Amino acid sequence: MRSFRLLTILVLAVAGGVALLQSCRKSEFRPTGTPLPFAVPQGFPQPAYDFTNYPLTAEAVDLGRRLFYEGALSKDSNFACSSCHMPNAAFTTFDHDRSHGYNHAHTLRNAPALANLAWYTNYFHDGQYDGLESVVRRHITHPNEMGENFPEVQARLSADTAYVRRFRAAYGFIGISDVTITNALRQFLLSMVSADSKWDRVQRGEATLTATEAAGEQVFAAKCASCHSGPLFTDFSYRNTGLEVDPALNDYGRMRVTGRSADSLKFRVPSLRNLNLSAYYGHDGRFSAMRTMVRHYRDDIHLSPSLDPLLLNGISLTTAEEDEVVRFLQTLTDSAYTRNPKYLPN
Ligand code: HEC
Ligand code: HEC
Repeated sequence: MRSFRLLTILVLAVAGGVALLQSCRKSEFRPTGTPLPFAVPQGFPQPAYDFTNYPLTAEAVDLGRRLFYEGALSKDSNFACSSCHMPNAAFTTFDHDRSHGYNHAHTLRNAPALANLAWYTNYFHDGQYDGLESVVRRHITHPNEMGENFPEVQARLSADTAYVRRFRAAYGFIGISDVTITNALRQFLLSMVSADSKWDRVQRGEATLTATEAAGEQVFAAKCASCHSGPLFTDFSYRNTGLEVDPALNDYGRMRVTGRSADSLKFRVPSLRNLNLSAYYGHDGRFSAMRTMVRHYRDDIHLSPSLDPLLLNGISLTTAEEDEVVRFLQTLTDSAYTRNPKYLPN
């Protein structure tokens, strides 16, 4: 009886310890600097990230911006985050289907244009990561991407007195560690908001669409917005849009994460903001032009069991409608975003 009670206590203690550990891991790491207000753009939903309880800080965001452009985070210093996420290309790789990383190895997929990341709960085309810290860790350590390890990065940054000072300003006594490096980058990524395209100005009553753009908006509302919905132009779901698998890449998308055949060939519905700057298109960048990507929905849907029911018969589009919808998509370009010094190197 007694040993049974002891056993119960032991089991409860272990369970409690595990729960405590998990809650520590889940709880947010808070930087110490000056809180930086986060403005939700007019008409946008509330972000998924909880800025009220876990505000950004000016010091950490600024540090994250510097780290984003810092070659020292990669093994041979050639592959800063910005080598693949280039500001002039809306933070994807300019003129590339897939990016090059360390040793000029290719990435599996097309780098997504980065914007409005605070609204997402999962990252990557297949939603593999549920936090931005994990994305940063993965990129720094992946042999085809930055090819480095944290002790090396930490040592390099610690040898630079300006970084030592900046980490202290952002994180106090914790200073330079894997946790603060990933946190600073995450804070910077969360601060990246693109909401000043022509379309946004139209929503605010500051501009009007041309007749062609307005016709394109109608086509878009009828034929595209069921998946590319709302001001972020995505419903954040994973869908099979009938793209044939590239035998050289063998990428089955979401199924790689869940292991479920029902998720075969499903990829996250991407936002359509800044497409004008972010060619190529599709998860593997197989389309070099917006028009060929759009035409795929009409002409080239590849049948498979997980094909999205909305696309069983493709999407009918006349050539005029195709022109109009492309013109509409061009109104989603926010060039002020890519020129904003808040997101650029010094
Ligand atoms: C070698 C090129 C390369 C480098 C360097 C790189 N990335 Fe990426 N990044 C990619 C690719 C490719 C993806 C998409 C991967 C996928 O979906 O499988 C991606 C995805 C992301 C995402 C997810 C975006 C989304 O919409 O889900 C974020 C955020 C990101 N990268 C930030 C960074 C940061 C921060 C760094 C530096 C620490 C960095 N990247 C370095 C190529 C790169
Ligand atoms: C059934 C949901 C669905 C519908 C309807 C849909 N899309 Fe998509 N769209 C997706 C998904 C999922 C992807 C990502 C495919 C990939 O990465 O391989 C995508 C990708 C795109 C891309 C590439 C974006 C990029 O950054 O690579 C464009 C452009 C696009 N869609 C435009 C449209 C237009 C225009 C329409 C209407 C004619 C439309 N979509 C209808 C789900 C949909």
